[in-house]
Amino acid sequence: MSAQLPTGTQADELASAARVDPGGARQTVAIRATGAYTPEKVLTNNELTHLVDTSDEWIVSRTGIRERRIAAPDETAADMAVQAGARAIEKAGLSPADIDLVIVATITPDMPFPSTACLVQTRLGMRNICAFDVEAACSGFIYITEIATAMLQSGRFRHALIIGTEKLSSILDWNDRSTCVLFGDGAGAAVLSRGEQHGNGSLSVLDTRLGADGAASNILYMPGGGSRIPASAESLAAGHHFLKMNGREVFKIAIRIMEQATRDILARNDVPLDRVACIIPHQANSRIIEMLSERMQVPMDRFHINLDRLGNTSAASVPLALDEVLAQGKIASGEYAVLVAFGAGLTWGATLLRG
Ligand code: UT7
Repeated sequence: MSAQLPTGTQADELASAARVDPGGARQTVAIRATGAYTPEKVLTNNELTHLVDTSDEWIVSRTGIRERRIAAPDETAADMAVQAGARAIEKAGLSPADIDLVIVATITPDMPFPSTACLVQTRLGMRNICAFDVEAACSGFIYITEIATAMLQSGRFRHALIIGTEKLSSILDWNDRSTCVLFGDGAGAAVLSRGEQHGNGSLSVLDTRLGADGAASNILYMPGGGSRIPASAESLAAGHHFLKMNGREVFKIAIRIMEQATRDILARNDVPLDRVACIIPHQANSRIIEMLSERMQVPMDRFHINLDRLGNTSAASVPLALDEVLAQGKIASGEYAVLVAFGAGLTWGATLLRG
């Protein structure tokens, strides 16, 4: 099993076909503000040793994760998204009435339909504006950044609220030590606006590169709950409604994909690696990020890491990390940053930002 990224040239041809000028005279879109929400409950590695045959030492040394947040039983992906979204709108100095587009990335929607974006839209007091979900797993936030950017650049929308939200605790098999120790819950949001500079701390969205390889769909998936295996007593008994992963296979592909996606987005925009102040990678495993650092010759202190505290929160992982990066002032005006992620599908993507 191997996922193949298109070469830089192929990707450029695809981009050219999709839009006449992939990098040039497009309208500026900026991330104006971000917002984050993580549930109150902290689940430590030691607490997990009461559920499965594992140890703090194994989890920390193999993944870097020390604890994760777990949503309350009655707290949903939409509930968390509403919190993160409201914070982003407030920090952007806008009100919900200013937003004209809501996109949510999640693999743990409140229900198969209606979309979580519609639930969030009404809860935030927005009416009659476009709202939909995107399912690209851990790459979801990069996917919705690109979709929102293109929709804003079309001139039909002015301010977009994009949110990655996950209640992964609801699809984990708490008897499977190979997966249940890895994931956590949370939501991260951003307000994207069309136009020039939006003031202190905003980030211009310069370019995004997306990819997917469905041939690798069988290494990270949830078989039940869709039209192939609808819910039944048998499907529940067989554990089809839990996340399944071939961790070792995902690990190998992740490193290669994240490196190539980062290098490609920089090459396409003529930005040398040493001008990137901060790389904000999907928070799956600190060993993946360390190997990325080694292969790319980028010191670890230029990668933002929060997986030790939050674990892997899938679509929420990149925006939660970005929110911390902005709060810590890690991207000065004029400096570059890269968001990069991979996930089930397989999907991947990288976004180039400038402070
Ligand atoms: O968001 C994208 C999705 N996910 C990822 O990016 C995950 C990518 N993969 C990984 O991060 C790693 O592959 C894991 C952390 C999932 C696993 O680490 P690994 O070094 O690849 O371990 P492994 O699967 O090769 O397992 C090594 C051993 C096995 O025992 P044996 O067969 O060698 O006796 C496992 O049974 O570790 C055992 N093991 C555990 N031991 C204690 C697996 N999970 C655990 C555990 N505690 N939680």
